[in-house]
Amino acid sequence: MAKTRTAVLISGRGSNMVALLNAAKAEDFPAEIAFVLSNRADAAGLAEAEKRGVETMVIDHREFDDRAAFEADINQALGDANIELVCLAGFMRLLTSEFVDAWRDRLINIHPSILPAFKGLQTHERALAAGVRIHGATAHFVRAEMDEGPVIVQGAVPVLPSDTAESLAERVLAVEHRIYPIAVALVADRKARVVSEKVMIDEDGGHAGDVLIVPHCA
Ligand code: GRF
Repeated sequence: MAKTRTAVLISGRGSNMVALLNAAKAEDFPAEIAFVLSNRADAAGLAEAEKRGVETMVIDHREFDDRAAFEADINQALGDANIELVCLAGFMRLLTSEFVDAWRDRLINIHPSILPAFKGLQTHERALAAGVRIHGATAHFVRAEMDEGPVIVQGAVPVLPSDTAESLAERVLAVEHRIYPIAVALVADRKARVVSEKVMIDEDGGHAGDVLIVPHCA
């Protein structure tokens, strides 16, 4: 089966993008990272993508009057690159419901918390302030409401008494890098189906373990 042509949308560092690029090197990985798009020209991830020979583009949101015009250009670029699946990876712009609906179940995001807990920013600070014992990351299909949508894969880490927001962020980021490629592979392989706004996995993900929690067969 042909590999799913996938775009990654970034705004900064791009470490999740790198995790996807690394995973996509495997011959049997079902997605090809064909395009990286950033709303910021200074996003560090852009240079990394270029170094790896991936087509990149900057569409600066500040050059548009409104979100719809910004997104029309993004859609044009994604269409020109024949993109079938879009991965948000630290893309710091809210997307309109029109854009999200147009890409329904073909648009996924990685978020640094175990959703639905700690939507939004500063998730690690808030996890520490809440005193939770477990924190982690979620790969999910995107819906119009921020950090909402059917969960594809989640991973967890323990919160240690010695943790600072930085140390916790570092451990959660490592989980993000593990689960995002798993989620992309499940979607690209069409093994992750949304049924009644929950993700059903057609085959065992094969990764269920102590800290990495992925869905089992329906
Ligand atoms: C990650 O923590 C991701 O979960 C969040 O933004 C951060 C982006 O990091 N949405 P990077 O650019 O992938 O390194």
